[in-house]
Order: sequence, then C-alpha cells, then structure tokens
Amino acid sequence: MLAGPAPKYFTMTFDRLETTLRLRGGHRLHGAVRVHGSKNATLPIMAASLLCDGEVIIKRAPRVTDVSVMEALLESLGARVREQGANTLRISATNLGQTRAPYTLVRKLNASFDLTGALLGRLGRAEVPLPGGCVIGTRATDLHEMGFRALGAEVRGARGYLIAEAPNGLRGADISFRFPSVGATRNVMLAAVYAEGTTTIRNAAMEPEVVDLANFLNAAGARIGGHGSDTIVIEGVDRLRGVEYEVIGDRIAAGTLLLAGAITRGAVRVEGTDPEHHRALLSSLEECGVACSCGDQWIAVDASGTRSGTDILTAPFPGFPTDLQPTMTAFLATCPGTSVVEETIFNARFAYVNELVRMGADIRVQMDSNAAVVKGPAELEGAPVEAADIRGGAALVVAGLAARGETEIEGLEFIDRGYERLEEMLTELGAQIQRSSGIVALAESASAFETSTMPTVG
Ligand code: UD1
Repeated sequence: MLAGPAPKYFTMTFDRLETTLRLRGGHRLHGAVRVHGSKNATLPIMAASLLCDGEVIIKRAPRVTDVSVMEALLESLGARVREQGANTLRISATNLGQTRAPYTLVRKLNASFDLTGALLGRLGRAEVPLPGGCVIGTRATDLHEMGFRALGAEVRGARGYLIAEAPNGLRGADISFRFPSVGATRNVMLAAVYAEGTTTIRNAAMEPEVVDLANFLNAAGARIGGHGSDTIVIEGVDRLRGVEYEVIGDRIAAGTLLLAGAITRGAVRVEGTDPEHHRALLSSLEECGVACSCGDQWIAVDASGTRSGTDILTAPFPGFPTDLQPTMTAFLATCPGTSVVEETIFNARFAYVNELVRMGADIRVQMDSNAAVVKGPAELEGAPVEAADIRGGAALVVAGLAARGETEIEGLEFIDRGYERLEEMLTELGAQIQRSSGIVALAESASAFETSTMPTVG
C-alpha cells in the first residue's frame, strides 16, 4: 500500500499571455521614438562571449524572445547568464563544458548556428543541430562547413547535427565565399579568432551586425581588420578577455518604424540608429516621394508628399535588406503605380502576401522569379490576420496602421522574437495599438485533471 501524497506528473502551469495585437488604423503617425538594440548583433555577440575568459557585459541587448532562447542555450552549455535591468546581460563562460547544443532550443533560433564557430574555437569541438530551413526559405550551411574545413576542422553530419572537430586546434586559411553569407562570415570569424596565424575571408558579408561582432571581438582582444569591407583579415590570438560592450541600434526595427510613419503618410523621427545603415531604404523611400533627413544617430521621414511606388531588389548589404522586404511591400501597396519587389536572399519570403491581399492589397507573387508585383494605391481595410514569421508579422502591423477600421494580428509570438514591444514604440508615435489582454491559462497538473478544470480567462 502506498502512503503519502499522490505523485505529481505535471506541475508546470503555462499562462499564454497577450497573443494578439489589435490596432485601429487610419491615423497619421508623428513624433520621435528611440529604437532598441540590434537583435542580429546581440545574438552572435552572445555566442562570441563563449570565447572570452572573463565576464562579458552586453548593454542595449533587446528584450526579445530570440535573446531569451540564446540565454537558455548558453546556460545549457555551462555558461552563466544574468540579466541586469532591462537591457544588460552579464555572461560568464569560464566553466564552459558542453560541446553539444540541445535541439529543443536550437530549432527555435537559426542564429544559434553561430555557436558552432564559438565552440569550435574555444573547445575544439562543436555539435550543433543543422538549421535545415524555416518559413522564409532554405538555410544552407555549405559555406560554414567549407570555412571550418579550410581552418583544418573535420566536419560531418550525424543524425541532424553538424559535428566539427579540431582536436589539435585550427590554423589560419584563405577562404573565399561564393556568396557573402552573414552567418558563415560570423561563424568563420568566431572560429578563426583562436586559429594559429592569419585567416582571410573574401567576399565576406558587410552587414553592420557583422561589423559589430568584429568590434566586440576586438574590444575583447581579437585582432580583426577589414570588417565592413568584403575582405576580413583575422590574426589569431591566445586569449580574449571579458569586456563591456554596447550593441548598435536595430536597423530592421528602425526601418520598420520609418515605414510605419511612411505608410500612414506621417512624419516620424527614429533615434538611436546610424543613418549609414539605412542608405538603401532611404533612397527607395525618396524615389517614392518621401522626404528623408538624418543626423547623428537619427533619421526622420515625412511622407506627406508620397507620389509613387518604386522597384525593390533585396541584396546583401549595402543593398536593400531582405528583412525589410515585407514591410516595404506593405508600404508600396499603398503607393500609386506598379512596383516590382524581387527577393534574392531567401527563396520563400512572400507568405505574408496572402494576408495583405485579404486586407485589400493588389499583390501578385511570381514564384518562378521570386518576385511580387504590387499595384497601388490600395485602400487597405482592417481584418483578422495571422503572422507566420517575424518580419512578415511586422508587415501586417504596418499595413494595419494604414487600414480603415480594426486589424487583429495573431501570431504575436513571432513579432516578439525580433521587436521589443513593437506596440509601445508605435504608441509613442500616436498609433492606436494594444496587446489583447486575453490570458489562456493551461494548468497542466494532476490535480487539474482530477478536478477537470482547464480555466480559460479573457
Ligand atoms: C542573417 C540574419 C537574417 C537576415 C540574413 C540576410 C541573423 C540572426 N539573421 O541570417 O535576419 O535576413 O542574415 O541579411 O542575423 N546560404 C547558403 N549557404 C550557406 C549560408 C547561407 O546558401 O552556407 C544562403 C541561405 O540559404 C540564404 C542566404 O544564403 O538563402 C542568406 O543567408 P545568410 O546571409 O547566411 O543569412 P543568415 O545568417 O541565415
């Protein structure tokens, strides 16, 4: 006979909070807002902290769920991560022990593949799940693998994992990419920091987030030059120390806010972002008749004179960023004339278009050419819509701001992966937008089953 309380099989209670955004469109946005720090700079810098012997303090880290997942990943590898205040992370990787990143976390975050270079550089071995693909397209890793091999690592795939090993250390190499992959440039840079001798990466990615990673590594004692150009040179060092570092402003979030202003024909100013990061966006907006001005770490747009659409071709930096393609397409839907948007970075990045069409946009996707033909000006109308990825979700928000009536966006969890409280930044600009207050409490406990209570509030 068993004595004592019955065993608990499920003790966790998940409260699914605030899963929708509701907004009432048709208001011109105006005013100024400061953008948060860059997600795509913070994530690789967090991975790079594994290379540092001493505490790393990352300032202006955005409070987005992708960063939380990376925190959990670093901890699963043996690092200690503490949050200090809203936007500072303190990471100590002195006791790093694990070389295998857990699939359950990695599958939530493509950027976690950056851990491969950091683990290989620090411990001589990395086992990281292959990213495969995601909703916006294939995530190939041939350039990462080619880079690791050139540095002397043995690389193979096993049961969905990439295993890279260099028990005797890495040595510098001359590496030429066929395409300037952001991820492969970062990964090779991370691995090469501790390689013996000199590594040269040709046709390297020039994105500001790659530059920020190099700046972080240099602040910690690395010797990297040429970042920001297409040739990066890394002289191997023996040790990286702890360092305090502030990441750059998030250029994609900043661009989203500028486009939110533009689609409402408003006048907004975004602070905390380098205008040099936005040349392609600003020149496209100017082609549409949007007046743009900028100064030290700020950009302003006045869209009252918008007169036409324009053609967009996404391309590696300094070309038009693929991450702003969905939001730009939403804006173009409201501009007079025909605009052609051609996507050259990812092969399936138009899924959000169906939702824009449901809101009244006239957009036709040409699968064979990976392009969208946008005919405007459309009178957008609010509708219930669903986000399927971060940037597609942002496009629906921006479209909702211009639409007549109410738009309700499901899939807020995608938007929260990349934007720190997008609705609060937009509210500062005068938008009528809020998270729904619905709470779905899923009390998964033995007692909950016994009493048949599955409370749903809201
Ligand atoms: C990063 C950004 C992402 C952005 C993208 C392009 C992060 C966390 N993510 O993604 O938001 O949209 O840059 O600016 O910073 N490719 C290959 N072989 C490889 C590597 C990549 O063919 O070895 C292909 C990919 O399949 C993809 C394209 O190149 O189609 C772009 O990939 P890449 O530049 O590596 O982008 P990410 O680092 O994945």
